[in-house]
Amino acid sequence: MESFQATIIRFESLTSTNTEAATRAAQGATQGLCIVAREQTRGRGRLQRTWVSPAGAGLYFSLLLRPRVDAGVWSLLPLMAALAVADTLDEAFELKVDVKWPNDILVHGRKLCGILVETIETNLGRAVILGIGINLTTAAFPPDLDRIATSLQEATGVSPDADALLQSLLGTLSNRYELWQTAGGADAIRDEWQKHSSYAQGKRVRVVNGSEIVEGTTRGLESDGALRVETDAGEIKVMRAGDVTSVRSQNRLR
Ligand code: BTN
Repeated sequence: MESFQATIIRFESLTSTNTEAATRAAQGATQGLCIVAREQTRGRGRLQRTWVSPAGAGLYFSLLLRPRVDAGVWSLLPLMAALAVADTLDEAFELKVDVKWPNDILVHGRKLCGILVETIETNLGRAVILGIGINLTTAAFPPDLDRIATSLQEATGVSPDADALLQSLLGTLSNRYELWQTAGGADAIRDEWQKHSSYAQGKRVRVVNGSEIVEGTTRGLESDGALRVETDAGEIKVMRAGDVTSVRSQNRLR
């Protein structure tokens, strides 16, 4: 099974590295293309959100993948990417992070990294654009992000070397990507994700998916990475998309 060889192309400023990678994928670019920008003027997040991307304040990049495995396991890719980020941060900075379903990287409940996985049809088959944004410093962020965002600088006390971080992250991603494609690899990733995330089991959450709002307690992941949530009525809801927030237990005094 295939790992990938990264080919990095750097830009000073782009609207979005995911957009640039998708354009090049449509033109036939090969797996491993990695688009990096110092700044994004229209950085995108999940659920049509904006990813605030001031110059030099984050590591913003998108990786083109052309998986040859069955599309049934592709839903595990965001989880695979989150584990790769978590591993890299642990190895590079001894920083322990939490993973919020499906793929937010949190430190003390605040977001350090977001991952946006998009698929696109190309002449060479369906491709994946894996976009990763890691906050290096929050100094240039608007004040309203203070409460919800954190940065590597804040979490580790040092100014991170973005290039070194990118190189080690690409190495970890490549290994994980290879594992994901082996027989049993998707299950291994799901199991590892469950061990790594405080959100996997027994966490009181609210999941908002469009007009659907589900509140309950998490009960692990389905084989495709969907989140199981048990409502207070004892019904198991299987969430394949949505935004998860941790809420206080009903039994706890406020
Ligand atoms: C999220 O948490 O909502 C996902 C955020 C993903 C942000 C990254 S930054 C690099 C790449 N380009 C984008 O426009 N978005 C992703």
